[in-house]
Amino acid sequence: MKFTKFIFSTLNLSREYLESIFSLASKIEQNPENYLNKCNGKILAILFFEPSTRTMLSFESAMLRLGGSILGFASGKTSSSAKGETIADTLRMINGYADIAVIRHYLEGVGEIAKKYSSIPVISGGTGTQAHPTQAMLDLYTIKKAFGKIDGLKIALMGDLKYGRTIPSLLYGLAKYDDVTLYLISPKELKIRSHVRQRLNGFNLKFYEIDDISQIIDELDVLYVTRIQKERFPDQLDYERLKSSYKISPETLNNVKDSFILLHPLPRVDEITPEVDSLPCAKYFEQAKNGVFVRMALILNLLGVE
Ligand code: CP
Repeated sequence: MKFTKFIFSTLNLSREYLESIFSLASKIEQNPENYLNKCNGKILAILFFEPSTRTMLSFESAMLRLGGSILGFASGKTSSSAKGETIADTLRMINGYADIAVIRHYLEGVGEIAKKYSSIPVISGGTGTQAHPTQAMLDLYTIKKAFGKIDGLKIALMGDLKYGRTIPSLLYGLAKYDDVTLYLISPKELKIRSHVRQRLNGFNLKFYEIDDISQIIDELDVLYVTRIQKERFPDQLDYERLKSSYKISPETLNNVKDSFILLHPLPRVDEITPEVDSLPCAKYFEQAKNGVFVRMALILNLLGVE
C-alpha cells in the first residue's frame, strides 16, 4: 500500500490509492476486532474552526476504535486563534502534542500551510467552499459498496453545486473512474464554479448541467443531494429565494430503478423529506456510518501502520 502524508484534495489521489483505502476500509468494516489496537499510544488532534457533527465525531470514533487517543477543539473561538494565533503556529504546536491531525478551516490555503509547517500527517476535514476529500472518499466507498463498482454508473449531483465543498471533491474522485455519466442539477445561480467546470472538461467523463430532475430520474443509479447552505451565501436574500429549489419526497422517487440509491453528505434541512428515510434506497445514514471505516483506513495509512 502506498502511504501518503497530507490529504487536502481528491485531485491528486490516484484511483489505485482510493481503491487501496476502500479495500482496507472494507476489511475493517468486516472485522473491526482485528484493528482494535493498531493505534495504541498514538494521538489524533482534532482542529475544527467550523461547525461539524459527522466529520469531527467520525474521526474521533475512528481513532478511538483503533485504540488511539484524541485531543483538540471544536471551535476557533475556544482556541488561541481567537487571540490572533496563526494556523502555521497552531500546527507547529500540535506537532509536539499529537501524531496526526485533522483540520477543518475556512481558509482555502490551509493545505499549503500544513504542508509547509507540519511534520506530522494532516487531513482536511473540510476546507472552505473548496474541498472535503474524506467526505468524497466515503461517498465513493458507499457507491462502490452498493454496486460493486463505480465505472459506468449514471450519477446525479443536485442542490448547491457552487458553495458545497463536497461537490468538487466528489467530482474529481468520480473522474478517476471510467465511463461515468454525471448530471449536475441546480438552479442557475448555484451551478458549479467555472474553474471546476474547466477541470471537468479535461477529464474523461460525460457531464450535463440541467435544472430538472424529472428528465433523468428513471435512468439514475445514484442521486446525491446537497443542502443549500445558508452560511455560504454573501446575500441572504438570495438564500431565501433559492433555499427551497428542490425537495425529494417519495413521489419524486416513484420511477427509480430497483438498484437506485439516494445519498446526502448531511446535514439536511428540508431537501429530503423525512418520509424518504424509510425507503430502501435511502442510504445517507449508512453513508455517514461508512465514514468511520474510511477514516480508520486513512488514519492507518497516514500513520504508516500496516
Ligand atoms: N458531511 C459533513 O461534513 O458533515 P459535518 O459538517 O457534520 O461534519
